[in-house]
Amino acid sequence: MYRTHTCGALNIQDTGKEVTLAGWVQTIRKFGAITFVDLRDRYGITQLLFGEALNRELEMHPIGREYVLQAKGVVSERSNKNLNLPTGEIEVNVTSFTILNASATPPFTIQDDTDGGDDLRMKYRYLDLRRNMVKRNLELRYAVSRSARNYLHENGFMDIETPFLIKSTPEGARDFVVPSRMNTGQFYALPQSPQTFKQLLMVSGYDRYYQIVKCFRDEDLRADRQPEFTQIDCEMSFVEQKDILDMFEGLIKRIFKDVKGIDYTAAIEKISWDDAMWHYGNDKPDTRFNMQVANLKVPPHVFSDRRHTIPQTAIGASGFKVFQDAETILAIAVPGCSAYSRKQTDELTEWVKRPQIGMKGLVFIKYDTDGSIKSSIDKFFSPEQLKVIADAVKARPSDLILILAGDEERTRKAVSELRLEMGKRLGLRKENEFRLLWVLDFPLFEYDADQNRWVARHHPFTSPKPSDIDTMIHHSPVIKDPAKYLEHPYAVIKANAYDMVLNGNEIGGGSIRIFQRDLQEKMFSALGMSKEEAQYKFGFLLGAFEYGAPPHGGIAFGFDRLCAILGGSESIRDFIAFPKNNSGRDVMLDAPATIDEHQLAELSIGIRKEIK
Ligand code: AMO
Repeated sequence: MYRTHTCGALNIQDTGKEVTLAGWVQTIRKFGAITFVDLRDRYGITQLLFGEALNRELEMHPIGREYVLQAKGVVSERSNKNLNLPTGEIEVNVTSFTILNASATPPFTIQDDTDGGDDLRMKYRYLDLRRNMVKRNLELRYAVSRSARNYLHENGFMDIETPFLIKSTPEGARDFVVPSRMNTGQFYALPQSPQTFKQLLMVSGYDRYYQIVKCFRDEDLRADRQPEFTQIDCEMSFVEQKDILDMFEGLIKRIFKDVKGIDYTAAIEKISWDDAMWHYGNDKPDTRFNMQVANLKVPPHVFSDRRHTIPQTAIGASGFKVFQDAETILAIAVPGCSAYSRKQTDELTEWVKRPQIGMKGLVFIKYDTDGSIKSSIDKFFSPEQLKVIADAVKARPSDLILILAGDEERTRKAVSELRLEMGKRLGLRKENEFRLLWVLDFPLFEYDADQNRWVARHHPFTSPKPSDIDTMIHHSPVIKDPAKYLEHPYAVIKANAYDMVLNGNEIGGGSIRIFQRDLQEKMFSALGMSKEEAQYKFGFLLGAFEYGAPPHGGIAFGFDRLCAILGGSESIRDFIAFPKNNSGRDVMLDAPATIDEHQLAELSIGIRKEIK
């Protein structure tokens, strides 16, 4: 037997027991004739004491960090207790030991505050995984998956696997492709999600499906994106949107309870996409804090049923060209910052001018605690006019009003970023506070400027709102004037689609699907697909819809993302055992890599000379 206990198991009650432990050497501390060794495994750390006799043996057979050691001995009470460790009151008085394996000196120290940089840790990920904090992340990940599986099982969902070698599924990213040796010149695509399969399973009658499944997307990577990531993917039949929202509100609350011990009793708030964009400039607003956006000027057509909140004479007649020429003017009132110094406001101006934000400048109004108003545009606006703006922004004395002006898309994005930044600076985005939100009624289409055509905002299987179906069917998707795409009837068509947002992150998204062949065909045609192309790409689904497809809908959660947020991290990499870096490389495997000529020949593939 290699061990009788793990390195996390023993405590004061075990004093006097003869035990055998096995694990990795964390630290070695020599004190004259005795040596202390901390032995580590997945479960914890236990202190070993090598007395005089064994100390001599240690000198003959030296051990080092990360050696694999087996030690037999007797549990005894420690004189120097460490009450922070579960095993901190005892040590094992070693009677004999065996070196099970030696270790090279690790390239970084295996401890929480390691000296290893990101690249080094990823190259030696198997060592990095020994670190306590990485282990805790993987434990949290497992807890989330266990909780989700239990909930879904209790609610009648069945876990069904779907294939990885498939034909393209459009989720808006590029496909990873795999050449087929047996079908020369042909390629499989790896699934961007199991979307079409889960819909086919509904046609087959498996009315509650789920899978915790890998998805593959060849897209630009960020801290919250990996080329292969995991979804909790779900689908249900005979449901309306409300049924789905209720079921998955239940799922997320269960996860909060099981994993974090949090009773999230409040109903998850719902907001329409229009409202989210209007009030936060963003379709995944962080609602842990308020600081809502004031729409001082917006172009017509952007939001179907609303207009700016201020008489345009208050901003237009000032002679201030920046405001006069701007398509959009948006503002936020930052609480308690009216006393910002020139240096601080200059720094904020530089912040919005950074290329990632891309604004030309920032206008300030300081609404002092005594009610007086000063601004960077005093030349153009009287105090009374500034007060009209301050009122429109719902500012209160002691607020600093920040105003951005420019074209609609950029300005809205910028005000959203600025709101988040100010929220962060003021400590309003608290790590241990969790705020969930449903965002509903997304646009069905999105304008793709590069291709000058409409693409599906979620995916092409998402159903339009019933009241918008006629608009979709009776208008051609052709966009004559790209500059005026917002005036096209498709711009305001809404979908039966929803996202779940947690602390400003999109953690899940789904929709009620189209389940009739003719409507699905019309959707493909609205996306500019010919009948032949639709048949070639999705003939299997259109065919299935002819054999009694039930009404259905579903959702997929970004599993890695959810874990990262619950674990208080911005990076999903910390929650994936073997992640890729930002260039999509596995630096441990050194993949992707070239393959040899023989493999290429078997696949009938040649690499273009200029690439070689
Ligand atoms: P969607 O594309 O919105 O929907 O994806 C669902 C969720 O998956 C997460 N996610 C990612 N996580 C890490 N890395 C990525 N590259 C990545 N891309 C997406 C997000 C997102 O909310 N088939 C549909 C679901 C449905 O309609 O049922 C789908 O895949 O958290």
